[in-house]
Amino acid sequence: MFNVKKIRDMFPLYRLYPNLVYLDNSATSLTPQIVMDKMNEYYSQYGVNIHRGVYSLSHRATEEYDKARKTIAGFINCDPSELVFTKNASNALNMIALMYGDKYINEGDVIVTSELEHHSSFLPWLKLSQRKGAVLRFVPLNRDGRITAENFRKVMDEKVKVVALTYVSNVMGYITPIKEIISLAHRNNAVVIVDAAQAAAHIKIDVNDLDCDFLVFSAHKMLGPTGIGALYGRKRILETLDPLEYGGDMNASVSKDEVTFKDAPFRFETGTPPIAEALGFARAVEYVNSIGLKDIARHGQMLHQYAIDRLAGLPGLKLYNPGAEIPIISFNIEGVHPHDAATVFDENNICLRAGHHCAQLVSKWLECMGTLRASFYIYNDYRDVDKFVETVKEAVNFFRKVSGEHY
Ligand code: ALA
Repeated sequence: MFNVKKIRDMFPLYRLYPNLVYLDNSATSLTPQIVMDKMNEYYSQYGVNIHRGVYSLSHRATEEYDKARKTIAGFINCDPSELVFTKNASNALNMIALMYGDKYINEGDVIVTSELEHHSSFLPWLKLSQRKGAVLRFVPLNRDGRITAENFRKVMDEKVKVVALTYVSNVMGYITPIKEIISLAHRNNAVVIVDAAQAAAHIKIDVNDLDCDFLVFSAHKMLGPTGIGALYGRKRILETLDPLEYGGDMNASVSKDEVTFKDAPFRFETGTPPIAEALGFARAVEYVNSIGLKDIARHGQMLHQYAIDRLAGLPGLKLYNPGAEIPIISFNIEGVHPHDAATVFDENNICLRAGHHCAQLVSKWLECMGTLRASFYIYNDYRDVDKFVETVKEAVNFFRKVSGEHY
């Protein structure tokens, strides 16, 4: 296993706040020094525009940018021409609905989604279905709140044209059996879009092996910078899509009454791209690779299991997803709004998220007003879990006292 102490030393935020217990990794991860260094290297050594200059510095910047795309494409095993840089995963999912959905979805077509979706994976399809008169169909969740292949079969037929599902739920931490689902969807020629925003930091993704048509993820959830994400699209599909935005660098030739576009991915990237962010993204990928996703997953599972073992059965505590594969714990202090409970954690230097986590359908399914959510990553250790567990107990006791209940 890797050395957590050594890993923590890579993150400047811990130097500033040595007692910080950062458990909001599903929202965004911390940034290691090497990612910042790479972005600084760009700005301080070759911080000029790409794909335009006819001078050496611009060639250097272009080379680094192209290399970054190659590294990130390698991370999910696709060709660099199939990887489009976007603002983030939400932006990528919206682009897919607008570029693919608007072109290929017609009245009466069915789009399969689920109640586990983050709003970014659901709302673009809700709006598209309203524009087009298409039908949204939900995979029934099983008793634990999981998407299963068995339930997916129940909603799949020849009317389904698009399947848009999350690989890992940002509230429940469950892994969707996405490979099996993709294979079932393809039997009916449906196109599958995978929201891998929560998966990419924890699971080895191979788009060829999954055989998905689209897959998206964000840099900032896997130690990279904010402001950049990736859209993978199967080459033969990307080639049929028109860009959403027009401007510089995406066209091949322009006349007074005509324009031809460059091939993918460039036709989908208008204007000066986030160059420093692309380099930082690639550096984050290299760092994650150097630690190894297998060890990252094992570490997360160990912390998660340790926390669950210590929390299970605690009176006054509701755990929603004790069986999660990805280290996300969604919970509530019974009778207490998650925003109120969150204050106790903040007072103890514990960062976690409270609310519906931009996935209101999940809260509705769970029949709650939202949850508190603790999510772990590589720099968390057993001490973090201990502090978290002690604070959960403190919160339970505090609110019991406030409400006049006693053990
Ligand atoms: N999607 C992110 C989360 O779950 C922001 O917190």
